[in-house]
Amino acid sequence: MLKPNFKEAQKRTKEDIKVLRNEYVISDEMKCFGENKKYFIKTYGCQMNEHDSEMISAILEDMKYSKTNDYEDADLIILNTCAIRENAHNKTFGMLGRIKHLKQTKPNLMVGLAGCMSQEESVVDEIIDKYKWMDFVFGTHNIHKLPEILKEHTKTNKLEVNVWSNEGNIIEGIPSKRDSKYKAWVNIMYGCDKFCTYCIVPYTRGKQRSRMPEDIINEVKDLINQGYKEVTLLGQNVNAYGKDFKDRDYKMENLLEDVAKTGIDRVRFVTSHPWDFTDNMIDIIARYDNICNYIHLPVQSGSSRILKLMGRRYTKESYLKLYKKIRNKLGENSSITTDIIVGFPLETKEDFEETLSLAEECKFDSAFTFIYSPREGTPASKMKDDVSLEEKEKRLYKLNEVINKYAKEANDKLVNKVTPVLLENISEKDPNMLAGYTDTMKLVNVKADKKYIGKIVNVKITDAKTWSLDGEINE
Ligand code: 5AD
Ligand code: SF4
Repeated sequence: MLKPNFKEAQKRTKEDIKVLRNEYVISDEMKCFGENKKYFIKTYGCQMNEHDSEMISAILEDMKYSKTNDYEDADLIILNTCAIRENAHNKTFGMLGRIKHLKQTKPNLMVGLAGCMSQEESVVDEIIDKYKWMDFVFGTHNIHKLPEILKEHTKTNKLEVNVWSNEGNIIEGIPSKRDSKYKAWVNIMYGCDKFCTYCIVPYTRGKQRSRMPEDIINEVKDLINQGYKEVTLLGQNVNAYGKDFKDRDYKMENLLEDVAKTGIDRVRFVTSHPWDFTDNMIDIIARYDNICNYIHLPVQSGSSRILKLMGRRYTKESYLKLYKKIRNKLGENSSITTDIIVGFPLETKEDFEETLSLAEECKFDSAFTFIYSPREGTPASKMKDDVSLEEKEKRLYKLNEVINKYAKEANDKLVNKVTPVLLENISEKDPNMLAGYTDTMKLVNVKADKKYIGKIVNVKITDAKTWSLDGEINE
């Protein structure tokens, strides 16, 4: 049994980062382990987790498992979890409750926990204590070891816990079974060294490690050959890409340019920290048409005092300066979204007013807004969480009103305009419509024939709502 350890996870050593290319192997014994069996994966949380699930799927299919979308029909269930806020925990434990019942009627069902919650000591202790009926737990650093973990479990038939606290290396060569045929996630870096005081990610995802540019470019070229139209470069803090290279001076701006030069139709990247957003990066985004004019730039708070407590390394003023620089350079046809936390420890009404005034000034295209949730082991969890839940909810409501007002305003401006949309699938709201995104990441429902799925087409916007647009093909 290998349990996670937060003290270990917090360590950042100066050791060189190695790229390991031969770590993913399936022993002969495991190659047909999943024959005639079905797997179900439930994914919680961010894009990084979604992409990890694509890798877990590919590994399982390499063992001949086939996929099912109905967990009651599965022989193997994996919950790929998120730890960012308490409600993500609650959802996972709720799902485990339902699975426990299923396991009583299907004793051969195997159930595993993966993802960020697996990296938390307290979660794993709870699993060992109260969820002994589960079969295995693995973490974010050893996805490639899944075949071995399953093999170990079959030997003992007991709960197999195998979580590495910190991974200092990069594992290449893990396959991916991508959910979409048109847009793909591409990891450019793992981990985060920013240690914002509220955030659990530096503990669950480990030290910052940037993938080699050649590996990223080759992956993108391969995706182009397969017909992909869009890539999203993924990392917790993508602007810090390359800062950990010792042998070369190659940063996010260089990578963006090289990915753009591959000729892929669309390049996106998430998530940006305002700290590392350089002028050169803004220039490159402006220069290349295929780099989408969409920036997700989490601000977290509009109060410089709270930003300091959060350890964000910028002030309200410096964020606004950067924000305006980006808007000016990318022009009218760009969109900027953000993340905001309300009710951080010691946040006064005045601090919150600063957040509202920032939202009024920035007029974000949209924002993800959250109530602060203390995460065990983080510095903020030791601060006095002195804002009542009622007050936090009031602040969230008020903030959302402002955010929604500007989201609608931004969408209204697009009515009667023609804009390219990558049509991805049948619309959830109407089976006679297709859904897709503009390069500025606005969801558009389009009256169009199915033959347009997977194509970037010009769409005339006919109507705007707060969170989506309607449109028709304009060829
Ligand atoms: N409580 C509330 N929101 C959080 N986020 C990260 N940690 C917490 C927390 N402890 C939010 C931040 C981040 C987004 C992914 O989740 O806004 O940008
Ligand atoms: Fe968390 Fe992002 Fe801060 Fe890293 S930069 S600690 S992932 S909020």
